[in-house]
Amino acid sequence: MATRVKPISQFANLADSILEATIVASFTSFGFRVRSRLEHWREPSDANGRVIVVTGATSGLGLAMARRLALLGARVHLVGRSETRLEFARQMVSSGATEEVTTHRCDLSSLRQTGELAQRLSRERIDVLIHNAGALLKSFVLTDEGVETTLAVHLLSPYLLTEQLIAASALAPQARVISMTSGGMYSQRFDLTTLEMGPDGYRGATAYARAKRAQTILNAHWQQVYGPSSLAFHLVHPGWADTPGVSEGIPGFAKIMGPFLRSPDEGADTAVWLAASAPGEPTPGMLWHDRHPRKLHRLPGTRLDTQDEQRAHDDVALWCQRRVARALNLD
Ligand SMILES: NC(=O)c1ccc[n+]([C@@H]2O[C@H](COP(=O)([O-])OP(=O)(O)OC[C@H]3O[C@@H](n4cnc5c(N)ncnc54)[C@H](OP(=O)(O)O)[C@@H]3O)[C@@H](O)[C@H]2O)c1
Repeated sequence: MATRVKPISQFANLADSILEATIVASFTSFGFRVRSRLEHWREPSDANGRVIVVTGATSGLGLAMARRLALLGARVHLVGRSETRLEFARQMVSSGATEEVTTHRCDLSSLRQTGELAQRLSRERIDVLIHNAGALLKSFVLTDEGVETTLAVHLLSPYLLTEQLIAASALAPQARVISMTSGGMYSQRFDLTTLEMGPDGYRGATAYARAKRAQTILNAHWQQVYGPSSLAFHLVHPGWADTPGVSEGIPGFAKIMGPFLRSPDEGADTAVWLAASAPGEPTPGMLWHDRHPRKLHRLPGTRLDTQDEQRAHDDVALWCQRRVARALNLD
């Protein structure tokens, strides 16, 4: 039996709201522990036979998700860019798994490789696609296809993979697509004109935050367009978890916050909970953190007005389509 969203006590609700307002308490391990205890979270009971694709499955949150989902009975596909790291991950995930674990080598900064991955996966009937791969770069890197790397990995590659799998009918009825977001996106207003950063004045954290903000708009677009065909699109904020991505990408932050960071399992929990939830549950098109829907905006000035927001949904998809075509010389 899969997880159902249960009503929680007023006290647990109040505690959740207080944690959420404080950000730091909410995103650290403290927030996870308080919520999981007050709300009596249970391990999702199973993901039996579900076909689940996890990108960035060789490290941190992706590896933690893949392990837990395999233990819950899912048939997991691991996507990574290094054969050695994939083999290591396959061994970790296979231990205790009842279903087959398959690996796919793909550098997601390459849209050509992403297209090939989509072709390989199109033979499957995928129940859950988790866009987890990501990195915060220190300096500007242009891919061989002429795209700023952060944008390629966090936005264009997930766009291409999702659209191709949908076009190939490789997503099962009521499949869900889960994208990992970040608190960084709260600092950014969606703006297509500044979305792809150039080398001048490049800041990895800004490029990352803009790509993650654009991902929230794309998620809303997908939910609008494909929701009626019963596909579900979710965003997940994992909190702040102790992963190689954090210790290497933002070492200063990792040093200060070290003792308070979540474990990878704690950071992966909400994505696992969503991936193992019953078909049709919970409400799609939302941003989730610690098994609750959360706000998409925390700062004044990042919100678009209703008309601009609607236009942005369509614009972001068209922009991604054209940018992918240009990178692949298809236009
Ligand atoms: N940890 C946090 O506190 C936190 C907070 C907010 C959001 N997130 C998000 O959560 C996701 C996972 O982050 P993490 O902390 O688990 O980071 P991580 O430990 O660095 O893992 C990132 C994964 O993405 C893969 N990856 C990166 N670039 C890739 C590429 N070009 N092609 C294919 N795979 C690629 C990495 O592969 P390699 O093993 O080959 O490097 C690795 O498997 C990211 O989207 C991140 O933005 C994390």
